Amino acid sequence: MTDSIIKIENVFKEYKVPDGKNVKALNDVSLEVSKNEFVCLVGPSGCGKTTLLNIVAGLEPFDSGKVTMHGEGIIGPGPERGVIFQQYALFPWMTVRKNIEYGMKFLRNANGSIRFDEKKKREIAEYYIKMVNLSGFEDSYPKALSGGMKQRVAIARAYAQSPEVLLMDEPFGALDAQTRAQLQEDLLHTWQEEKKTVLFITHDVDEAVLLATRVVILSARPGRIKEIVDIDLPYPRNQATKMDAEFIKYRNYIWDTVYKMFLEVRK
Ligand SMILES: Nc1ncnc2c1ncn2[C@@H]1O[C@H](COP(=O)(O)OP(=O)(O)OP(=O)(O)O)[C@@H](O)[C@H]1O
Ligand SMILES: [Mg+2]
Repeated sequence: MTDSIIKIENVFKEYKVPDGKNVKALNDVSLEVSKNEFVCLVGPSGCGKTTLLNIVAGLEPFDSGKVTMHGEGIIGPGPERGVIFQQYALFPWMTVRKNIEYGMKFLRNANGSIRFDEKKKREIAEYYIKMVNLSGFEDSYPKALSGGMKQRVAIARAYAQSPEVLLMDEPFGALDAQTRAQLQEDLLHTWQEEKKTVLFITHDVDEAVLLATRVVILSARPGRIKEIVDIDLPYPRNQATKMDAEFIKYRNYIWDTVYKMFLEVRK
């Protein structure tokens, strides 16, 4: 792949635990993610998905291998990689607008000067508040928002920092089915409007097929890449896409692969 942004090469990771029962989390994982791809990672619980995402986020060290972005080693978090966690991680004492503006205050120009003044930050926040359908809630505090609305704030905050890459760890996992369906469509819409490179973890195979350009299936712990499936379904996609015969074929195939691994583990 020539236009790969993120390159993960032969990564091994073992968690060292004090009682000596170390946990091998990743076993020789290699993956390249190209510009504007939407890659979904699926695999059994505990197979190392979060570990892999955190390594790309620069939040977790690894034992051997190489992880680069544009050829440069990832050695810590950076504004070019926006992370969205399952739990909303908003500042409860800040309004929606302030939460979204907050991350922008750390952005710098190449010469080290502050990138956005107050007016510009407000403008950008307005734009993304609108994009995630939260107009009218600018001055609300997180406690006054539903789970789905909080997650939309988290998405808007990540977008406002204009990262090249979005790293999402089961961002809709805690939501009810209807809100989840709504946010899937919102995210599809946002991603089509403003293309980003996305690495997205989910347990939900339907969600993976609906969103992704490629689905990466990890095997049970220690995680290694079992299979990569290109999802050749046209965009725009929406919930109706799930009725599509092609969609169902992909979903059944991936589900079957994941389920077989689950049965293996239980043996
Ligand atoms: N900080 C830690 N210390 C020790 N072991 C850990 C730590 N974090 C994760 N692990 C172990 O590493 C393995 C992979 O964990 P990880 O959280 O990456 O899995 P996952 O695929 O995200 O699982 P899930 O789908 O349940 O979120 C698990 O067996 C877990 O117990
Ligand atoms: Mg996880």
